[in-house]
Order: sequence, then C-alpha cells, then structure tokens
Amino acid sequence: FEVHWDAEAAEKGGYEHFMIKEIYEQPRAIRETMSSRLAKDDSHIILDELKWTKQEMAAIKKIVVVACGTAYNAGLVGKYYLESLSRIPVEVDVASEFRYRSPLVDENTLAIVVSQSGETLDTLAALKEAKRLGAKTLAITNVVGSSISREADQVIYTWAGPEIAVASTKAYTTQLVLMSMLAIYIAGLRDTISAERSRELISGLRNLPAQLHEILEDVESIKTFAQKYGFNEDVFFIGRSLDYAVALEGALKLKEISYIHAEAYAAGELKHGTLALIIEGVPVIALATQHDVYEKTLSNIKEVKARDAIVIGIAQQGDEQIKKYVDHTIFIPQADKFLAPILAVLPLQLLAYYAAVTRGCDVDKPRNLAKSVTVE
Ligand code: G6P
Repeated sequence: FEVHWDAEAAEKGGYEHFMIKEIYEQPRAIRETMSSRLAKDDSHIILDELKWTKQEMAAIKKIVVVACGTAYNAGLVGKYYLESLSRIPVEVDVASEFRYRSPLVDENTLAIVVSQSGETLDTLAALKEAKRLGAKTLAITNVVGSSISREADQVIYTWAGPEIAVASTKAYTTQLVLMSMLAIYIAGLRDTISAERSRELISGLRNLPAQLHEILEDVESIKTFAQKYGFNEDVFFIGRSLDYAVALEGALKLKEISYIHAEAYAAGELKHGTLALIIEGVPVIALATQHDVYEKTLSNIKEVKARDAIVIGIAQQGDEQIKKYVDHTIFIPQADKFLAPILAVLPLQLLAYYAAVTRGCDVDKPRNLAKSVTVE
C-alpha cells in the first residue's frame, strides 16, 4: 500500500489551478493589505513606513509611475487616484520605455515603481535611472527583500501572499488598494483632501473584502458567458475614466491565459478606428461603473449594439437602465467610483479564467510567458 502525496495539489488547496485559488484569496489579501493601515475612526491612513514630511511633499511637482504588465495597469488606476486627490501631475510609463527616453525627472519628482515580484529587470533599471536623476523613489511590491525593495528609498508592501499563477490577480487588486491609500495619505500631507472625502473613501475601503466575497459567491453566470463566448477570436473591452483602466487589465488577462485576441478601448475612441471591427456577434465587454461618465458610456454601448455586437455590461447594482441596452449584465456591489475598479476587475479575471479553461489552455503557465521577467 502506497500513499501518493502530490505537493502541488496540496498547495492548490483543493482548487484546480493556482489562478482560481488566488482569485478567491482576494478578499483576504485586501484585508491584509489594509490591516493596521486604516485609522480606527476612518479619519486617516497610517503608512508609518513612509518618512515624508509635509514640507517634502509640498515640494513634489510631479509623480512618475513606472512598471510592466499588470503592475503598469495598476499604475494607470493609481494616476487617477493620485492626480485627483493630491493634485500633483502624474505620468505613467512602461519601464522599458521610461529608461530609454531620457525622462524629465529631478529632485522634485516622486518616482513610484510597482512590481509584484520586485525583480522585473526593466522596472529595476527604471528605478535606478530615476534615482540617478535625483528623484525620490518609492517601491510598491509584494516581496520583502526583493531587489526593487532594496534599491528604492522607501517601500510599501502589498500583503497579498505568494502569487504563483503567471497571470496576476491578487497582486493587482492589492496594488490598487495600496495606491488608493497612498493617494489619500499624500493628499492628507498636502491638505488637498477634505476630512469628509477621506472618511468616505476609508469606509469604502473597509467594505471591499465583503463585497469581493459577494461577487465570488455567485460566479455561475460569468462561467456561462465564458463558455458561450470563449471560442470567439476577438473580444473588445470598452470603458471611460477608471473603467478604461480596468478594461486594459481585463483585455490583458484574456490575452495572457486564453490566447483570445482582446483589445481595450477608451469608449470615446471607438469611433476613431475600432468601430470598423465591430460586426455582428463580436463580444464587447462594456464597463459602466463610473457615474460621472455613465450617459456617455451608454451612448457608446448603443453604438456597438447598433452593429449587432453581443454586449456584456458590467455595472453597479441598482442600475436598471443598462439592462435595456446590453445582452447580459454582470452587477458589482455598489461602491464609490474610486473603488469600483477593485470590484469590477473580478468578473474580468473570472471571465478570462473560465474562457481559458473552456479552451483547454494551461492556465497557470501560459505559453511564452514567465511570472517574473529578469532579462531584457
Ligand atoms: C510578467 C508577468 C506579469 C506581470 C509582469 C510584471 O510579465 O507575467 O503578470 O504583471 O511580469 O511583473 P512584476 O513582478 O514586476 O509586477
């Protein structure tokens, strides 16, 4: 009698793949990342690891966010947070571009590098370049003691736990959570956020783990859509404002693991090219969680519907209007527009996962891709 012990199966804790395990770990990962960083009375963010003074922050004239892949997509969301709360201009750059374009960076620049592994070679090189030019540097990473964490002046960690699947999920959502906390924190130092707005966002952050859990409790419809449309060769993602940034991450997930050609478009840009590709039966995932641009997004949805696309809308609960214009709707729990991306990306991760499973792809180890890219 022999007992076969499969170490990898044990690590997956009953899940079929690391990716789905990590998707389900998100409520906990986010709770961990926030823990001890939200003041008990929701009045402010505690980031004791950052040793910035009010004077230092007042002197910052520009922020550059540099990263690769999913971390870059998190940087795009970070730009919205940082600019609108701290009123500092923010540029987001792909690390392999930043390092070779003689960037305009000086001692009044804050360079933020985002990297799950803390080992991506281009991101590390970009960090070194920003430092050489005199910028203050901050790393957002998931790995304590990683090269990037050692190189940066300051570090804040996402506490997502180890991420094994090549396609990043819990690292992305924890990066978003940390970016939002950082933006509230910097805005606090610069007096550009009201006490009321700060409190509103912090209490919104507190709700996230339970809301993510709610989405994860009922994934049947998402699974069905993935099975139904998973064999289409092209899928388009559209959205405005923060929804556009999330659309980019949704398209990347689908490409990485299911090998479906996916493109994300700022919904307002559709008519400048991509609309030519929208024909009968093409799936369009339309994100409409941002109230301030809702009507505009709806007109873009009508444009693709008029070309007989199949539209899956992602909207906030209680949105009755959207159902009239789309074929299927996936609702996320109601949230502040700033925090909606952290919820809206979940259905997109799940769609990509189930599409890849439907197509029989090697979900955790997609062809040609590596978890951490330490070569140029
Ligand atoms: C690789 C991974 C991606 C990741 C990117 C950046 O391409 O496959 O999932 O987003 O590297 O990695 P980092 O560790 O720097 O966040």
